Amino acid sequence: MKLTKHVDQLDNHIQAAKLITDHTGRIRDASPEFLQYFSLRKDKVLGSNVRNLFKGTCAHDRNRIFHAVITGISCLLQVKEVAHGLEYQVLLRENEIHNRELQSMLQAMEMKTSNKKKTSRYGFGEILGESRSIRQVKDLAAKIATSNSTVLLTGESGTGKELFAQAIHELSTRKNHPFIAINCVAIPAELFESEIFGYEAGAFSGAKREGKPGKIELAQHGTLFLDEISELTYQSQGKLLRVLQEREVERLGGTGSKNVDIRVIAATNKDLKSLVKEGKFRQDLFYRLYVFDLQIPALRQRKDDILLLARAFIEEYNRKMGKDIEKMDKDLEEWMLRYDWPGNVRELKSYIERGMNIAEGRTLHLDSLSFPSFTDTEEEEGRQPAPLASLEEEVRTAEIRAIRKALKEADGDRSLAANLLKIHVASLYRKISKYNLK
Ligand SMILES: Nc1ncnc2c1ncn2[C@@H]1O[C@H](COP(=O)(O)OP(=O)(O)OP(=O)(O)O)[C@@H](O)[C@H]1O
Ligand SMILES: [Mg+2]
Repeated sequence: MKLTKHVDQLDNHIQAAKLITDHTGRIRDASPEFLQYFSLRKDKVLGSNVRNLFKGTCAHDRNRIFHAVITGISCLLQVKEVAHGLEYQVLLRENEIHNRELQSMLQAMEMKTSNKKKTSRYGFGEILGESRSIRQVKDLAAKIATSNSTVLLTGESGTGKELFAQAIHELSTRKNHPFIAINCVAIPAELFESEIFGYEAGAFSGAKREGKPGKIELAQHGTLFLDEISELTYQSQGKLLRVLQEREVERLGGTGSKNVDIRVIAATNKDLKSLVKEGKFRQDLFYRLYVFDLQIPALRQRKDDILLLARAFIEEYNRKMGKDIEKMDKDLEEWMLRYDWPGNVRELKSYIERGMNIAEGRTLHLDSLSFPSFTDTEEEEGRQPAPLASLEEEVRTAEIRAIRKALKEADGDRSLAANLLKIHVASLYRKISKYNLK
């Protein structure tokens, strides 16, 4: 079956299979062809949310083509903006094209669209979540995106700060200019200046012959994203402040300064205000950055989003791994809703990824992903020592105890626990499953 043939047919063949939603994703209309394609009844579909139908796949960016599974049928859809909402048009269905071809075609298309703009990759459509709190942040972020003001993104690790920074850039008038990110942790103090200001030829020994532009220069007319801003040394904070105030930059060893036209978005998972109080963060810089403080809620504060995100990640990994997981079992869902997710969306995403790696069949089970509950370690310690068992049994008991202890100390974070135990996280997983530690 030739792909090109199908692509040619796209325009005239299935065009009629369409779905219209409002901006919140509520389905307003579905064409008879659409209903027939997926054996759906109109009264069942109207008024429900498109996410339920697409099983977690969400693509609300204009003109995006994406893969979804509707009533078990794999298909390719294109989403367009129409008056008061979005229109989803079916381009291809599973029985018209082989699944693998569909995926490679999708990848090719994604590459084509992503080649067009090479500044930053994510828009607000990629920030998933329907909970009140995340919607409020998204709305606010979208509003301030168009202004030129500095934005401070705060939120725990893994809440999506970088995703937001990119989305804000994408929605701003600067979107056709670069989005340049600097991770302030990764830059040692001595290098900070040369990284952000750049240098002229021969500025210092070891400098490149032709000199090097700094990140500020590279971000000209675009957005400079300062990640983990709290980690800048006091001295570097001062240097940065000067640029933001004077709006000009001079390369190290240079003679003239250049005008700077950049928008700064900074991110931190620390409480900058208390760092200011403790004298670790410059107050003047803090107020420069604090124009808009966008606080991204932790995942545990928006539990409504947990299953929606999990389903979306399952779809994503289904595509990437060529798997066909359809759902999670009830126990797993319940556990996910109870768990605290200290690593937020990043943790949830890697949790799903790990689960999908070992999952067989069409359902993701709690068994394969089980999480330890911490029982009786304390009690155990106060008890009479058990009689000596075989060495194997003793080692086993000792291992279980050490793992439980580490998990407890790490507050359930398995990577951290593995660190504490100085073993690889994969090895920790194997042991957890070997000993059936729930
Ligand atoms: N709302 C969301 N929808 C979809 N994916 C998300 C969302 N929030 C976060 N992610 C994903 O979770 C991961 C972590 O996001 P991101 O890197 O933006 O977090 P962060 O807040 O910058 O974390 P850190 O403070 O550790 O740097 C990424 O893979 C990102 O794509
Ligand atoms: Mg980050």
